[in-house]
Amino acid sequence: MIYNDHCAECHGPELAGALGASLIDPAFKARWGGRPVSDLRDWIYSNMPPNAPGTLPDAQLDPILAWVLMKNGVAPGPTPLSKANAGAVFPKE
Ligand code: HEC
Repeated sequence: MIYNDHCAECHGPELAGALGASLIDPAFKARWGGRPVSDLRDWIYSNMPPNAPGTLPDAQLDPILAWVLMKNGVAPGPTPLSKANAGAVFPKE
């Protein structure tokens, strides 16, 4: 899995955090909830992984983002997540 190869080392296999922040805790939801998913997408692209920011191709970034959203309880939509449809709002709990 792409997440395991690029992110799990720091964010943990279940996204609960390790060296890096938790991607499922209340702080994460408070920061990103109520904002377009594209904000989170852009932030990840520009900042992660820290040793190679700006290098994750869409083909890897989108499945990783979809996985992060799924682990936050967001139900997958009918169309695979992509740059084109990432404008939907990440629901606030
Ligand atoms: C070498 C360790 C490392 C790797 C690999 C890494 N991260 Fe991170 N990540 C961090 C650290 C440290 C932070 C907190 C610093 C910050 O917010 O700038 C962070 C923060 C984040 C945040 C923001 C968390 C928040 O609460 O807003 C997201 C989202 C994220 N990482 C996603 C990813 C994804 C997706 C990948 C894989 C493509 C990844 N990271 C790979 C170390 C890492």
